[in-house]
Amino acid sequence: MRRVCFLGLGYIGLPTAIVASWSGLEVLGVDIDPRIVATTNAGRLHFVEPGLEEMLRASLVTGHFRASDTVEVADAYVVVVPTPFKGDHEPDVSYVEGAIRQVMPLLKAGDLLIIESTSPVGTTERMRDMVYAARPELAGRLRMAYCPERVLPGNVVHELVHNDRVIGGVDEESTRAAMDFYADFVEGQLFATDARTAEMCKLTENASRDVQIAFANELSIICDKAGIDVWELIELANRHPRVSILRPGCGVGGHCIAVDPYFITSDFPTEARIIAEARRINNYKALYCAEAVEKAMLRFELERRRPPTVAMMGLAFKPNIDDLRESPAKYIVSRVMQGMDNADILVVEPNVREHKVFKLTDYHEAWERADIVVYLVAHDQFRTLPEAEGKLEMDFCGVRNGR
Ligand SMILES: NC(=O)c1ccc[n+]([C@@H]2O[C@H](COP(=O)([O-])OP(=O)(O)OC[C@H]3O[C@@H](n4cnc5c(N)ncnc54)[C@H](O)[C@@H]3O)[C@@H](O)[C@H]2O)c1
Repeated sequence: MRRVCFLGLGYIGLPTAIVASWSGLEVLGVDIDPRIVATTNAGRLHFVEPGLEEMLRASLVTGHFRASDTVEVADAYVVVVPTPFKGDHEPDVSYVEGAIRQVMPLLKAGDLLIIESTSPVGTTERMRDMVYAARPELAGRLRMAYCPERVLPGNVVHELVHNDRVIGGVDEESTRAAMDFYADFVEGQLFATDARTAEMCKLTENASRDVQIAFANELSIICDKAGIDVWELIELANRHPRVSILRPGCGVGGHCIAVDPYFITSDFPTEARIIAEARRINNYKALYCAEAVEKAMLRFELERRRPPTVAMMGLAFKPNIDDLRESPAKYIVSRVMQGMDNADILVVEPNVREHKVFKLTDYHEAWERADIVVYLVAHDQFRTLPEAEGKLEMDFCGVRNGR
């Protein structure tokens, strides 16, 4: 296998394509967004990822990698397009289907087709059926597999190579072919399974994180009502040798943990009870935080006979990144701003220069000016601020507690 075509040059597809090109494969990266294609061919990344731009440039120079908006004949195709949800949290696999339809006319016997996009169980088999319905002469002669990605943005170059991978084909020959493909550039262990198990494995990993965070978030609400410091409680409970409770926050965000569990609940609405409840708890936690801030503002105004200045500290979905997708902090800020019309609310996000909706304030300035300081994201910068004397501090994410 020499020529590989990656479909989707986003946070995952582009780094994977570049790393694959370093193993000697001839890689074409395809994206429907012409700006991404142009930026990539100019040797620049369209997102931040340490170490990757240098690798991209080297691959362009050696000729092992180039980007295009058009698919070309290859021996292997890797689909890394988005899988958002639509309507009432149903998975939207139309991008995966669209990408596979693009390569369908190019496929030939013996080709390998891999899906990396997070997908509901049965997607790879459905895509196989779709391909064979359109190209019956290829029936049983393609290799198709699912291989999920579990890298951490910010550490992608290392994790792409060193993380273990789960690889599941629609039949044993497909699994073997996909294992051989990844063995060329992955140093982590490769685990063979079937396509359905590999699909469910990705969903399980993120649903597991969501459920565990929901437990911490539920505890935080109980502790709030019971007058107990949840951070101290968790620290003490975790001294038990077999207990390991995660940290609560103001909800759960991002494009993975806040999305993927719905791919299970949507297909198994009766059975997936804990998973569905975890989603509800984590969503509710953001509403709970917003209402707590509103109540604190009203109390302040009653006591001081003037409205407070409030600093909302953080918009990202987790600490030290600029990614605001599905962010509970962003939801809380919007909700409080809408609910408390005309209030003096300062919005802070040190990792973002400007935002099209929110006017951003420097975190020092916001802290200085605020009567109420609301910590929504535990960014490192916030930990350097002193405890606020004469101000009300609302710490939903443990800025004052530990890591
Ligand atoms: N970002 C992560 O941390 C992460 C981690 C694990 C898994 N995933 C999964 O990987 C998949 C891709 O995620 P991402 O973060 O890279 O998404 P992304 O939105 O950053 O990139 C996807 C790219 O695909 C392109 N695209 C859409 N349709 C196309 C088509 N038909 N042909 C070619 N290109 C097409 C888009 O223009 C976009 O550039 C998703 O299913 C996601 O859930 C993401």
